[in-house]
Amino acid sequence: MCGIVGYIGTKSACPILVEGLKRLEYRGYDSAGVAILNGGRIEIHKAAGKLRALEALLESCAPEGLIGLGHTRWATHGRPSDENAHPHSDCSGRITVVHNGIIENYLALKEQLIAAGHEFSSETDTEVIAHLVEQSCNGDLVSAVRQAVAQLEGSFAIAVIAQDDPARIVAARRHSPLVVGVGVGENFLASDVPAFLPYTKNVYFVDDDTIAVLERDHVSFSSLDGQPVEREIYEVTWDAAMAERGGYEHFMLKEINEQPQALRETMRERLSSYSAGIELPGLNLSIEYLRRIDKITMVACGTAFHAAMVGKYAIEALVRVPVELDVASELRYRDPIIDDRTLAIVISQSGETADTLAGLREARGKGASIVAITNVVGSSVARESESVLYTFAGPEIAVASTKAYTTQLMVIELMALYLAQARGALDETRARELRELLWNIPQQVEVILGDHPEALRCAEKYCNHNGFLYMGRGPNLASALEGALKIKEIAYIHAEGYAAGEMKHGPIAMIDPGVATVAVAVEGRTYDKVLSNILEVKARQGDVIAIAYEHDDQIGKYADHVIRVPRTNELLSPILAAIPLQLLAYHVAKNRGHEIDQPRNLAKSVTVE
Ligand code: G6P
Repeated sequence: MCGIVGYIGTKSACPILVEGLKRLEYRGYDSAGVAILNGGRIEIHKAAGKLRALEALLESCAPEGLIGLGHTRWATHGRPSDENAHPHSDCSGRITVVHNGIIENYLALKEQLIAAGHEFSSETDTEVIAHLVEQSCNGDLVSAVRQAVAQLEGSFAIAVIAQDDPARIVAARRHSPLVVGVGVGENFLASDVPAFLPYTKNVYFVDDDTIAVLERDHVSFSSLDGQPVEREIYEVTWDAAMAERGGYEHFMLKEINEQPQALRETMRERLSSYSAGIELPGLNLSIEYLRRIDKITMVACGTAFHAAMVGKYAIEALVRVPVELDVASELRYRDPIIDDRTLAIVISQSGETADTLAGLREARGKGASIVAITNVVGSSVARESESVLYTFAGPEIAVASTKAYTTQLMVIELMALYLAQARGALDETRARELRELLWNIPQQVEVILGDHPEALRCAEKYCNHNGFLYMGRGPNLASALEGALKIKEIAYIHAEGYAAGEMKHGPIAMIDPGVATVAVAVEGRTYDKVLSNILEVKARQGDVIAIAYEHDDQIGKYADHVIRVPRTNELLSPILAAIPLQLLAYHVAKNRGHEIDQPRNLAKSVTVE
């Protein structure tokens, strides 16, 4: 949801900002803009549409200057237009702001500011910040930003520059991500680390209600009441190449293909050999506590919620503890029954999703211990959780999540086995068998990725269909939902994910020659039931694509197309089933000529409610 960048140093700011925005475009792509402080003047260039529109504009003016801010927008207040694009300025044009988040009290503030004579030139909530800073500014930008921030309600990461205070950038955050990159003779700020990865890996993660001041050779932090705050520098392990397309046509395809490596990285040090037990070094919970919990609640949004659904099946089957699932936007408002015997597992690729963070806080406030599963070191979810289990997927740039999902599943399976081990819920023979199967998963994913002609054939045959039904049972109900979500997100085809047994209660009415059904039909507890559900679709002249195990010689008699995946245990099979579902969605979207990495109306990191 919007990306901000800032640069102060000895190089020309504009190309660095644009490069940073390219790496943040996944956060929104409705408009983009830059503000460059040049010779005591702030020069602003902005354009509606994707970043390339701004780049085209900059070709003819190439602003010079060593300090600047940039922004890529996901519109909330005000339609995507040049006027509503950031940066926004005060009445005099001497103060300029970029913002990610929502100022909830902006209408009241705007009225007060208008009454005091301020003139607005956009419909955005952000513009009030520039005018508030103007109102309090008497030469000291830091103090003016502090006073402005004190009046704001909602979520924000902001960065401000001013003509009258030309040697610094002042930034602040509350509930929206903000990181500071520390270079030599230059410093950076951004919504996310990849923005400045080509220049530095040394990062400060800024806390809520903190003001950051960036000068060329110095970065300092203070609280809202002006007290200095010490922050620790982290060295991130990601490198710039990880955030490049690396020869692939789309980030999504690259990320799909990175899954074997991402899964191995996520497994490494936790499952060192299948004969040994699982180790979870990030889990700061005693065995006594793990034995005492009487409920697990899992909280997430979007694809991460589908990972949680698989977690419910795996944990209940292996650990025999009840698991409750909530999409975060529901949990936060439903007064859930949670206490100090509840373990809350919070899943978020970005670690910044506003609803997920609120769900985390709700669970923590009621006494639960929090285990975060996230991909981003130092993210808000990571910092607010007592235990963090990272998915080592590397940066995920495509809006549609792929490698983050399968690595979340890997962590969840590891965690289920670990909890079962800690609580003595699983005999060693079965535990060892499952560890061995888990150990094989990255290599099995490699096999699927190596050759998938049937997925390509199906993508070609069905790309002009106007609907897809996805069905699955048990842990693969989540696969059905995730498959449907993928095709909606990037192919813009209406799709429903359903528990296969529920098809007869409504969705089967949608079967017609323009609707294809994808059935996840891997052998397991309910395999025969899924076969019957496939027959029900066939009886109504619907085409069925089945995802099934290799050497399953029954399924070919039922489905029109069979996409094969290697055999594993049913509880682990959603990791393998995810791969053809991702490939199908990707190739359908590609055949339809879509942009894929930046689907319409979406953003990757949803930092507003
Ligand atoms: C957005 C993204 C999804 C993602 C969801 C949750 O909707 O488009 O791909 O699953 O947010 O994001 P998180 O970072 O919390 O996993």
